[in-house]
Amino acid sequence: MTADTDRNLQAKISCAEFAAGFVRSGMRVGLGTGSTARWLVVTIGRRVRECSLKVTVVATSTGCAELARRQGLEPVSLQEVGWLDLTIDGADEINPDLDVIKGGGGALLQEKIVAESSDRFVVIADETKRSAALGGYPLPVEVTPFGWQSTQSRIGDCLRNAGLDTVVGKLRPGAGGRFVTDEGNHILDFSLGPVPDPAGLHDDLVKIAGVVETGFFIGHCERAVIGRNDGTILVEGRGRPGEGG
Ligand code: A5P
Repeated sequence: MTADTDRNLQAKISCAEFAAGFVRSGMRVGLGTGSTARWLVVTIGRRVRECSLKVTVVATSTGCAELARRQGLEPVSLQEVGWLDLTIDGADEINPDLDVIKGGGGALLQEKIVAESSDRFVVIADETKRSAALGGYPLPVEVTPFGWQSTQSRIGDCLRNAGLDTVVGKLRPGAGGRFVTDEGNHILDFSLGPVPDPAGLHDDLVKIAGVVETGFFIGHCERAVIGRNDGTILVEGRGRPGEGG
């Protein structure tokens, strides 16, 4: 946990606990990955143990599944459950349209599959994640290990075509040199700066052979729960802003 994470701890706990209140008995729930979603898993685990909440949960990463088990939850596979009522997950950056960059923790592929298998997708984030335009946070792009350097070069061409011509992708480091995702892929991180058309850029990037997925989550989020360090929260829906606390 970084010093920055520590500074935002109360905000993360506040938004996660509030969003856990959306979970009702009988629901099939997707659990996000990351230092904010961690508190969601902890809170749901506590409600299952202490309040007789009965839920079926699907994890979005190996780490999330391990955490869930430690909290007394028994994650099932997405295939077993088929479809989810609700998924709640963190974000690295969120814009006013509730479009999001995710994948700082490297779980973007499972996170997106689970989000797209849910009736509702709710994002929880501390208020430092809010931004006028996506691109302040480096965009993670999951790529196959085979030919990743060629893929990186073709992504560079794509970014130049989009007017983002000074961008260089960095292979994410990890144990043994390179980060390896749960699916055995690598991640390239691109410091883009403000992106005028994230949806268009995502569409262009995923057409490149070797690109498995991007960290842009466009149009997925129906509601964002933003936490502040004073314990209050702001709930934003598409066209439905409101205060909570
Ligand atoms: C995991 O791959 C990510 O998508 C996380 O959900 C996202 O990076 C937010 O993480 P934090 O809550 O740790 O900031």
